[in-house]
Amino acid sequence: MSSTAGPANPDSLPRLVVLISGRGSNLGALIEACNNGRVPARIVGIVSNRPNAGGLAYAEQHAIPARVLNHRDYPSREAFDEDLAEVIESFHPDLVILAGFMRILTPGFVDRFTGRLLNIHPSLLPKYRGLDTHVRALADGEHEHGASVHFVTRELDGGPVIMQARVPVLPEDTPESLATRVQRAEHRLYPEVVRRLCSGEIQWRDRIVTGDNTPLTVPLQLATNEVVPDVEAPDERSPAPRDAD
Ligand code: GRF
Repeated sequence: MSSTAGPANPDSLPRLVVLISGRGSNLGALIEACNNGRVPARIVGIVSNRPNAGGLAYAEQHAIPARVLNHRDYPSREAFDEDLAEVIESFHPDLVILAGFMRILTPGFVDRFTGRLLNIHPSLLPKYRGLDTHVRALADGEHEHGASVHFVTRELDGGPVIMQARVPVLPEDTPESLATRVQRAEHRLYPEVVRRLCSGEIQWRDRIVTGDNTPLTVPLQLATNEVVPDVEAPDERSPAPRDAD
């Protein structure tokens, strides 16, 4: 996938499909970055597994096609993932972006999209896979925390990490204040990774992440001066889901 900066025919831009379950503030950051030209790509579809996900407001606001597939309507995880894959494929995506999509994906689904399936996780992986990352980082007395964007593989939160954003943990932090700081970093991190993938600076080759044609041995780090406007979440129509069900 490769696209150059500057005005481009929208039809020639890499196609992104974003999957959400909740607030969708990362989706908002990606939309903003595509709209202002920072990310040379186009969000062609949004899919939510929750009908009341607050992030669906972005689809309405920006006239982006959205589909809701309620996992509760399906008899099994496999059946849900099969339909989910069909819906995603119908958008012909170059990248499938998990942005707070709170579902554990089946191996069949992951295999179908390997190499174009990304996730953002609120920790400095491999630390704190799974849930409650901010609580656990505070309990451990960490001085630094952050977020990671990685390719998704069959192993939960275990795929190759592309880039991380680091934030300090302050003595007065609560899980909530730390989560807010990490999310602000996420809003810079995810668009930057997508930009690099869409411009070809980062590639997935033979299950290895390469940057400038060299395999990445350690994750890239987001420079602290890469400042872009913070994105407000839309009014929440439901609390952000916590469980990966
Ligand atoms: C983010 O913190 C992300 O790290 C995690 O889920 C959260 C989604 O937030 N995977 P939002 O829905 O993008 O606001």
